[in-house]
Amino acid sequence: MPLFAERTLSIGTGNAFKIGPHIAGLEYRGHSVVKLNLGEPDFSAPRWVKDEVIRQIEADNSHYCDPQGILPFRQAIARQVSASRGLDVSAERVCVFPGGKPSIGFAQQIYCNPGDEIIYPSPGFPIYESFVRYVGAVPVPLHLREANGFTFTAEELAALITHRTKLIILNFPSNPTGGVATPEQLRTIAAVVLDMCGPEVRVYSDEIYENIVFDGQAHCSIASVPGMEARTIISSGLSKSFAWTGGRIGYAVLPTAEEAAAFKNLNINYFSCIPPYNQEGGREALENPRSGPWMADMAQTFEKRRDVILERLNALEGVTCRKPGGAFYLFPNISGLCERLGALAAFERLPEDIRRQTSPSTLFQMFALYHHHLAVMDRRSFGAIGADGLHFLRLSIAADLETLKEGVRRLERAGRDTDGFAGFMAAGANLF
Ligand SMILES: Cc1ncc(COP(=O)(O)O)c(C=O)c1O
Repeated sequence: MPLFAERTLSIGTGNAFKIGPHIAGLEYRGHSVVKLNLGEPDFSAPRWVKDEVIRQIEADNSHYCDPQGILPFRQAIARQVSASRGLDVSAERVCVFPGGKPSIGFAQQIYCNPGDEIIYPSPGFPIYESFVRYVGAVPVPLHLREANGFTFTAEELAALITHRTKLIILNFPSNPTGGVATPEQLRTIAAVVLDMCGPEVRVYSDEIYENIVFDGQAHCSIASVPGMEARTIISSGLSKSFAWTGGRIGYAVLPTAEEAAAFKNLNINYFSCIPPYNQEGGREALENPRSGPWMADMAQTFEKRRDVILERLNALEGVTCRKPGGAFYLFPNISGLCERLGALAAFERLPEDIRRQTSPSTLFQMFALYHHHLAVMDRRSFGAIGADGLHFLRLSIAADLETLKEGVRRLERAGRDTDGFAGFMAAGANLF
């Protein structure tokens, strides 16, 4: 009898957390690693949010609370989501979670039976793909093409929809590409969903980067397209908007109160409730009038960094990078670099069992980390199915400009270090 259930072996993971011990090992040995692998803003949460959390803890607001989320916070969320998306959301349709992440797996558990198909963006946030087989569903990656600015067309989505499609995951602004869909694109995507899917099919719209949008654009939600509110789960949270990843406050607006109750029941089963003092901090974040300008300032800082680093990346031989419209990542194509360095040929020479666990951009990622002390993420970390032959990296711009410039310098040096790469491959360690 095996120790682990089959289910346990079928779940994937988020490599952003997996690379941590490699970095810690290098730092322990005295190396200074430039960390452009992190998906969290390098800002402190606003003063008024921290003050409110402290105030609540001092007031002993630290007991069990409503598993769906405390009512004042759900009301604040309902108001914010209604105002920003032109909807009329009630607090009973809101459910609060410890971060934006749990509702991804919960949605898959709540809506999907074994054999149902889940369409999700690739490259995309790794948890979309990693959960699918765990719930017995079938992964259907929707490939975001560089030439389309890392969005997709209605035709591309239509080609993937079948009678087994149950959940369609969208993420704009996108991690890892920074792609943003225009209102017109969202309308055509919505038209396909309304036309081809029954009313029980759900769109999970991950809008966690809603407040980090560049070039004067405003965030648009597919839920705002007429007919889509009844089919869309709007997911967001405070991790990115308020630089509060450790606060673990996320939420979703469900099409109906009945669906919110199903999510609430998973909360009860898994963790009972979310710390009430942090929820009060979340309420303060959404209600305080200083929060809007604070978020706009942060987004502007990211935009300035984007411009500087984008130009530097595009000046590197063998690297091309599209301009992201939001979030805080750059997603350069490093095909030329991989070719010049010998990573493509080295990958082909690897034994089959190792090749299955790595890719040319993974080899470069690990080489850059161990030989040039630069931490970035590889393309495979954002959906492995159908990623063969795609050579990209994700660089987070959640670091100060000097660190970012040093990161690009290390990337350039690593890209030219053919001898070092040959040595790395010959040593045969840390290949994935
Ligand atoms: C697209 C996307 N969704 C959800 C999350 C999860 O956020 P949280 O830390 O609030 O769970 C992230 C975090 O990186 C993300 O990039």
